[in-house]
Amino acid sequence: MSRSEELFKRACEVIPGGVNSPVRAFGSVGENPRFIASADGGYMTDADGKRYLDLVGSWGPMILGHNHPEIREAVIRACEKGLSYGAATEAEVEIAELICSTVRNIGMVRMVNSGTEAVMSAIRTARGFTGRDKIVKFMGCYHGHSDALLVQAGSGVMTAGVPDSAGVPAGCTKDTLSAVYNDLSSVETLFEQFPQEIAAVIVEPVAANMGVVPPKKGFLEGLRRLCTKYGALLIFDEVITGFRLGYEGAQGYFGVDADLVTYGKIIGAGMPVGAYGGRKEIMSMVAPAGPVYQAGTLSGNPVAMQAGLTQLRILKEHPEIYIELNAKADRFYTGLDAAASKSPQGYHVNHIASLGCLYFTKDPVVDYASAKTSDTKAFAQWFRYIFEKGYYIAPSQFEAMFLSAAHTEEELGKMAEAAGAYFGALA
Ligand SMILES: Cc1ncc(COP(=O)(O)O)c(C=O)c1O
Repeated sequence: MSRSEELFKRACEVIPGGVNSPVRAFGSVGENPRFIASADGGYMTDADGKRYLDLVGSWGPMILGHNHPEIREAVIRACEKGLSYGAATEAEVEIAELICSTVRNIGMVRMVNSGTEAVMSAIRTARGFTGRDKIVKFMGCYHGHSDALLVQAGSGVMTAGVPDSAGVPAGCTKDTLSAVYNDLSSVETLFEQFPQEIAAVIVEPVAANMGVVPPKKGFLEGLRRLCTKYGALLIFDEVITGFRLGYEGAQGYFGVDADLVTYGKIIGAGMPVGAYGGRKEIMSMVAPAGPVYQAGTLSGNPVAMQAGLTQLRILKEHPEIYIELNAKADRFYTGLDAAASKSPQGYHVNHIASLGCLYFTKDPVVDYASAKTSDTKAFAQWFRYIFEKGYYIAPSQFEAMFLSAAHTEEELGKMAEAAGAYFGALA
């Protein structure tokens, strides 16, 4: 029995499903999870000593690669001064100033501990600010696991939310309306039906939880227009896209303004951090400045802040990182797409900046319904092939690949070559 198998067996006795987050389970690809012992640069090493080129990057935060020396040093220095004070620190002011001075439409920002918390709090703020209850989300977009957002609304665009998870009372999702990603008319219909009741539209500006689905031209602009017209707030959930598409995230990349923005993962450089921010008049609603209550014992933790601050400073001081990363990613995903297109089934890659997803369908993937046409059995087969070759991709069809500055053209080229051999053999 391998060490990972042994650990998984023990884990299953004491942790639900043996993992602390469902996406870490390898069930859908017919494997057991590998337990990771260490990570460095573009690589992770499992408990049995097998090394993988890691294209998950802790689901986004490791844009500079694992164990970056400057970030590690900053964390060690912070640890030497104590792990948590439950009181205000200079680092919190510095990271907030950095974000507010460089990202458009962010006049104030509040640190939290996860993306889930950031989104949940942004929604509460939007409701407090507008005095309205309903929110619009898109099918296939994930915004963390808070009750009101666990809605896929498989029963159709117009229906009020039906909870996706056991344990979510129907009352918690009754104000969650679902629309179709990349389909403005589905949003317009909801606004026409509830012109005075919608507090906010929340969107992943690039949907990265149904694979990778970039917004169609005009979609985000259209959301902006509709929100302004009906007095609702536009929330960009940039937990994936923030500081990844570029320093100004999706707002900068697409040139569309949001009223509130949520962040996670990447702003903590791998430490448990999230944040939400927006214009001062909106964020002034948040306690203790205003009546919208939100709090956190460990929010703005001094060690986590130093990790995040160091990563954000490096990214800000070196804009070439994004240019090089996005160009490298473009070449890699184009190569992977060419490899996939050797398959008779017409498999293909969706990609934008350093995010990409290989879909096992011939249909263009533009929304939740088309993403679901992907053949998950064919994905599982591909996963087992490429994983065995030492490439760690997410063990699920509907997750993104995240490239980092630490990946080299050579390594990525080898992966594309392995893909070419695999898909060529399917022909
Ligand atoms: C777009 C988006 N929003 C929110 C979340 C929730 O973040 P967390 O897992 O840190 O709670 C995620 C997690 O992947 C995400 O991708």
